[in-house]
Amino acid sequence: MSEIERRKKDHISLAVGDAARSTADSGFEKYRFEHNALPEIDFTDVDASTNFLGRKLKIPLIISALTGGSDREKINRNLAGVANDFGLGMAVGSQRIALEDRSFEDSFKIRRYAPNILLFANLGAVQLNYGYSAEECKRVADMIEADALVLHLNPLQEVFQVDGNVNFSGLLKKIEKICAALKYPIIVKEVGYGISASVAKQLQNAGVYATDVAGAGSVSWSGIESGRSGDIVVKSAADAFCGWGNPTVECIKSVAEIRKNMKIIASGGIKTGVDIAKSIALGADLCGSASDFLRKIMISHSDCENYAESLTLELKTAMFCTGCRNIHELKKAKLLKNE
Ligand SMILES: Cc1cc2nc3c(=O)[nH]c(=O)nc-3n(C[C@H](O)[C@H](O)[C@H](O)COP(=O)(O)O)c2cc1C
Repeated sequence: MSEIERRKKDHISLAVGDAARSTADSGFEKYRFEHNALPEIDFTDVDASTNFLGRKLKIPLIISALTGGSDREKINRNLAGVANDFGLGMAVGSQRIALEDRSFEDSFKIRRYAPNILLFANLGAVQLNYGYSAEECKRVADMIEADALVLHLNPLQEVFQVDGNVNFSGLLKKIEKICAALKYPIIVKEVGYGISASVAKQLQNAGVYATDVAGAGSVSWSGIESGRSGDIVVKSAADAFCGWGNPTVECIKSVAEIRKNMKIIASGGIKTGVDIAKSIALGADLCGSASDFLRKIMISHSDCENYAESLTLELKTAMFCTGCRNIHELKKAKLLKNE
């Protein structure tokens, strides 16, 4: 088994455990909607659907990047089935493993299970400093018939990962080149520590179509890598970062203030449909959820389906009780800060 394959397997098993939970707060609990006791709409008319890159979603949610390529390859297939049936989008995990060994390509090709979903390809942006160029970026997007390519930024994780790729110098210019060279829209995301307003501004100027804030409050990569490492110094240092990162809500709000045309995807600790509603009211266009979908699909397919269904019901209820008929109205719903 290759090192990437082993790492992916470890990430999946450690991510569903407690060591992977960040001690930071995503910040959603700091806000509440003003409840509307007289919404003057029919609950059955509430429409939570949205469009993103020409694809229709029943609710503004994607299953965020998780995996592919490991012997858990059925995870992608099963998640794609849920995305298809519940009108969600989906992002596959890093496709580097399939670039290095074509036998892994199949585990990422989920269009056959979900022909019309919004679908994102994925690569680590830092690989642009380790030999990858527009050619590899195009290959991964073509490989899965994606609607867009996600480049993820994971500096903290790379520090604690065995043989991590830690040269992040000059990446912005390379991301800019990829935006210009590819016909695919480029989305840049974090993996659980957040995109700040200043980073988002640089990405926007580089031509990035959307940024997925993937903020703090859910996954702790230092916890996951600490769990993998046999090195006492690495373990101890990684543990010092279990509460690191920009909380998701702070990211959504501050990125919304600087954005011009760039879309915002909110993720990092989204637990309920109420969190989705809050994200939209704070300025997000779309939301993402990864680790909770992973936890559910690891239990069973029907647990995962129930989860998708309850997120939908929660979102629609939040819209109803704020008097919002559709996502457009939800964007203007009144959010109050808890004291
Ligand atoms: C096991 C696991 C693997 C992940 N792999 C990737 C990846 O390959 N590419 C990526 O962009 N993000 C990856 N992520 C990060 C998620 O897409 C997401 O940004 C992060 O978990 C925060 O969302 P959440 O709070 O809903 O889990 C991974 C997360 C987990 C838990």
